[in-house]
Amino acid sequence: MWMAKGAFRVSQTVPAIRLKMQQHKLQGQRNLHLHLDTFKMFCGGKKSYFVATVCIITLTSMVAFSYLRLQRIDHLPKIIQEGRRCRGEITNNTITPLKDKRTFIISPYFDDRESKVTRVIGIVHHEDVKELYCWFCCQPHGQIYVSKAKIDVHSDRFGFPYGAADIVCLEPEICDPTHVSIHQSPHGNIDQLPRFEIKNRKAETFSVDFTVCISAMFGNYNNVLQFIQSMEMYKILGAQKVVVYKNSCSELMEKVLKFYMEEGTVEIIPWPINSYLKVSSKWHFMQDGTHIGYYGQITALNDCIYRNMRRSKFVVLNDADEIILPLKHPDWKTMMSSLQEQNPGTGIFLFENHIFPETISTPVFNVSSWNTVPGVNILQHVHREPDRKEVINPKKMIIDPRRVIQTSVHSVLRAYGTSVNVPMDVALIYHCRVPLQENLPRDSLIRDTTLWKYNSSLITNVNKVLQQTVL
Ligand SMILES: *[C@@H]1O[C@H](CO)[C@@H](O)[C@H](O)[C@H]1NC(C)=O
Ligand SMILES: *[C@@H]1O[C@H](CO)[C@@H](O)[C@H](O)[C@H]1NC(C)=O
Ligand SMILES: *[C@@H]1O[C@H](CO)[C@@H](O)[C@H](O)[C@H]1NC(C)=O
Repeated sequence: MWMAKGAFRVSQTVPAIRLKMQQHKLQGQRNLHLHLDTFKMFCGGKKSYFVATVCIITLTSMVAFSYLRLQRIDHLPKIIQEGRRCRGEITNNTITPLKDKRTFIISPYFDDRESKVTRVIGIVHHEDVKELYCWFCCQPHGQIYVSKAKIDVHSDRFGFPYGAADIVCLEPEICDPTHVSIHQSPHGNIDQLPRFEIKNRKAETFSVDFTVCISAMFGNYNNVLQFIQSMEMYKILGAQKVVVYKNSCSELMEKVLKFYMEEGTVEIIPWPINSYLKVSSKWHFMQDGTHIGYYGQITALNDCIYRNMRRSKFVVLNDADEIILPLKHPDWKTMMSSLQEQNPGTGIFLFENHIFPETISTPVFNVSSWNTVPGVNILQHVHREPDRKEVINPKKMIIDPRRVIQTSVHSVLRAYGTSVNVPMDVALIYHCRVPLQENLPRDSLIRDTTLWKYNSSLITNVNKVLQQTVL
């Protein structure tokens, strides 16, 4: 009895929705006619350039408005099948190519900050991918809804043919789907498509204050000592979690990552992007036939923001050789409270990068047991390169993830609220690497021993980790 009733209700839904949509379209057209009549009344007679201009503007806006209305209707979810079970294999891979081999799905996220949508973080070919559809399956009756996606390729593509993209679909009103499939067509058999879990569906309370996102570990990464030092500095400064998008690293590094995973600090996101695309290790396109820049760093950063939107108060976006060092405060938490107080309505804080060349050493903290560990000992590098007149120092960020829509590496592309530059006397990014100004003599560099404030706890913590992993 109940089943029959359910089936009846479902079969009624289809024509009802179609009818509603037609009504919407008709209504839109009728409104346009009505507007046009009014328009004729005012614009038909007088011959003045001013009136003509006003009329043209009005007509254009009316057409644009009607177009936008029809566009929105075009993107509304439509029922295409009913009473099926929600099948299709659930995939847990971080990068899943679609059949077109031009679209790669990272992960869908529920986002109701503007309207009720599923936002899929992905990678697409910026020209070849023109149409995508989200297939939702509503439980418990198994109606299948298809929504046409808005494909928003991020503007920071740096000349590469593939870029990060938001694939955004309106969700059906009648249910909160837990999974979605993505397809190039609104037709076909959903059972054949992989299904992805829609993350961030449930409200969560913050479990951490600071999460650091390390966007791409690649090239058989083996800078073990510097990585452990960075990790311990992040923890001293207030990070409870570090997310590493891991492409490749050495066996020794695997051991260190395993230690941090067991400790509960590190979350590894496998990032086998070079299995699908030709990656460049440069950030901009060199006309060399590569597909995407810097191991897909931008896509990883965007995924990291959404992944941590509901569980972390702040997300820190920097590389493993960079540490945001506060100068006035003992840690990130006190620094961020002060910055937030001074900048209400801001969720994006930009910090200036400064190079501490690994070629200039000051052997005050030469810990003998560390000499057998591969990698740089940052405590020995406390001279930074001076600013150059013609060069603006790149920035890295601490953000409130709930205020960000799209991010690039050195700034956000779309956000709710403004960004603020954090002055040099509050914090700087300690970035220990090969020099950018390699011909500068030692005494042209600026001695800056801020890092040494942390020497004692840093040495103790690093020794503990080394003893349990490498030594
Ligand atoms: C993916 O994970 C889900 C839940 O953890 C599991 O039920 C499913 O079998 C997994 N799918 C694959 C292909 O491993
Ligand atoms: C650090 O000490 C070791 C011996 O313990 C020595 O071989 C090495 O040269 C020293 N490093 C520096 C930078 O002085
Ligand atoms: C190392 O840290 C200790 C304890 O915090 C501090 O007293 C000392 O001055 C630091 N050493 C240097 C060279 O900065």
